[in-house]
Amino acid sequence: MYFKVEYRHRIWGSIMLAVIWTVAVGGLFLWNSHLSSTYSNSIARADTIKAFNKDQAFRLWAANHGGVYMEAIGDIQPNPYMEHIPDRDVMTASGRLLTLVNPATMIGLIMKDFDKLYGIRGQLVSLDPLNSDNLADEWESKAITAFKAGEKEVGEFTTTEGQDYYRMIRPMKANKLCLKCHAIQGYKVGDVLGGVGIRVPMQPYHEQLNAIFNGNVLSHGLTWLLGMFGLTAWHVRGIRNIRKQSTTQSELAIAQISSEIKSDFMSSMSHELRTPLNAIIGFSSTMKAEIFGPVGSEKNQEYLDDIHYSGQHLLELINDILDISAIEAGALKLDIGNVDLHRVIEDSLRLIQPRADKEQVAVTASYALSRPEIQADERRLRQVLLNLLSNAVKFTPAGGEVTIDAQSNADGSMTITITDDGIGMDKEDLTLALSRFGQVDTELHRKTDGTGLGLPLTKDLVELHGGKLLICSEKDQGTMIKIMLPQS
Ligand code: HEC
Repeated sequence: MYFKVEYRHRIWGSIMLAVIWTVAVGGLFLWNSHLSSTYSNSIARADTIKAFNKDQAFRLWAANHGGVYMEAIGDIQPNPYMEHIPDRDVMTASGRLLTLVNPATMIGLIMKDFDKLYGIRGQLVSLDPLNSDNLADEWESKAITAFKAGEKEVGEFTTTEGQDYYRMIRPMKANKLCLKCHAIQGYKVGDVLGGVGIRVPMQPYHEQLNAIFNGNVLSHGLTWLLGMFGLTAWHVRGIRNIRKQSTTQSELAIAQISSEIKSDFMSSMSHELRTPLNAIIGFSSTMKAEIFGPVGSEKNQEYLDDIHYSGQHLLELINDILDISAIEAGALKLDIGNVDLHRVIEDSLRLIQPRADKEQVAVTASYALSRPEIQADERRLRQVLLNLLSNAVKFTPAGGEVTIDAQSNADGSMTITITDDGIGMDKEDLTLALSRFGQVDTELHRKTDGTGLGLPLTKDLVELHGGKLLICSEKDQGTMIKIMLPQS
């Protein structure tokens, strides 16, 4: 559930980032393309103005000289549109004919003769031209009308016959010298005679722009791809992390649930088992004591002993199992308080005494306590000591001796040593004894019984107190167990 939400968030986050990245790179691309095309157009315009100015310089030069005389040969012939001008044609003393060439015609001829060199062409146009070839087209007419109203320049990008052009037109106003030839049309100084237009093909600029555009596509595309690649890698890693996290989470959840089930099971088992066991133990001891009448045969008495004894053993076993599983689950809590170690040892000795007497084992205690108080869980400490003492008695044959010794150490910790001169254990036995459900000496076990849980449980309990349990044992020599409890 948690995993799904995280997962969805991450996917949406990644999609959002991808969209933002795409929009950002796309926007940059559009912006760059826009800049390049603006730049290309402004270059085209600048080139147009340059060409225009060059034309205009020729034109004005010729106009300001009232036209130029040239020998009437070939292209240069007396101009019918200038018939009205006196001295249009002049004969030299040597009999060569010179004729006046007007600025418009002059430029026209230059353009014709040096087409390639000249490059961009301009043209004079008018609403009412001397030469009808110079009649303004629709766009030019509009521009000339605008000039008459004061406009200084008109320009536009246009397409003619499938070719893109930038065209521009500026006004041609009459000065005194122009009127030499144009007064006949009724113009006065300052009138707009027409316009001079120029048309620049956009093809070369477009080619340049295309190259820039392709570069833009490539660089932005690569940038975008790189970003997406990084984003994908980041996304995949994130998803993997979420998966990993959720696996550990679900593992934890499973562990939690199973430990809950286990402890539930343990507590119900403890109840379910203890109830009938208590009945068995209680009733068998009542019967043994013949409170409600004689048992009768000796065999019955023997069986009752067995029943009673087995019941008690089973109860012990169950208690040990429960304790161990509680420790394993980390559920066993110590009830720490001020404990008089001296008293606890004496209590334990009193409890073990009947059994020791029965086994004919001597149990003695010695103390070297500077201070008998210790911080511990009294019930658990008693359980530890009883366990160790009963083991010592159990594994010591008749006539043997068990000692318990308690002493305070310099650092405030305490050491309790329990020694016996019983059957002892070799290394293998020791390992077995300390492992749960292990049991030393099966033959002896049959005689002495035991849950096999005693030693590991005891060790766990000591360690739960922050202490240490050390075992020193030799086959047929006896066993020494030291418990070190930390300073309290
Ligand atoms: C020497 C005579 C002469 C002078 C000076 C002269 N022009 Fe012209 N102009 C002509 C002739 C002739 C034409 C027609 C040329 C052709 O295309 O054959 C013409 C054409 C034009 C046109 C194109 C429209 C049309 O009428 O054909 C304009 C506009 C124009 N001249 C403006 C001027 C201006 C402005 C000046 C002064 C700066 C000027 N001209 C000076 C003789 C002259």
